[in-house]
Amino acid sequence: MKRLAVFASGNGSNFEAIVQGCVSGGLDAQVALLVCDKQSAYVVERAGNYGIETFIFDPKEYAAKSDFEMQICELLNEREIDLVCLAGYMRIVGKTLLSEYGGKIINIHPSILPDFKGTHAIERSFESGKGVYGVTTHYVDDTLDGGEIIVQEIVVYNGGRVEKLEELIHSVEHKVYVETIKKIIER
Ligand code: GRF
Repeated sequence: MKRLAVFASGNGSNFEAIVQGCVSGGLDAQVALLVCDKQSAYVVERAGNYGIETFIFDPKEYAAKSDFEMQICELLNEREIDLVCLAGYMRIVGKTLLSEYGGKIINIHPSILPDFKGTHAIERSFESGKGVYGVTTHYVDDTLDGGEIIVQEIVVYNGGRVEKLEELIHSVEHKVYVETIKKIIER
């Protein structure tokens, strides 16, 4: 059984979808660790509900990114983590983590990359009027939402409410993230 770490900064619906994928969604994996850079994030409560070990850190308490990433690397090593899943982790992964875990870190983004990289991707894609929405999972490199694409799924929405589009995209994310992990760990 593969051991996963999820990195998140906020709500944690993807974190929970991954946990559910392990519990009852056919993933031969276990979420062994949540890494979170924000004490007040709702994802921390979600992890507590499942009794999942959580490492919370405040980046401001470290002199440099490499310092907290070094500590995270130690934890990942100790917990024998096979795959790191970024799920709303609002930081660019630095070279400390990438040099140890490169090729083993994946991310999910709510657009058809390379379009709409960065924050507020759903609102920006809605406002662009392009009418093309979707979800991408990809390996992580040292660029914003860059790295080799693993899975992309188009989301069709012709309505006029961004909230509805958001709901739709998030539900597709939850499915696509579990499918992506399955694809990687069964390889
Ligand atoms: C998701 O839309 C994900 O694609 C993006 O951040 C959001 C996190 O949502 N990277 P949640 O915290 O998993 O609910």
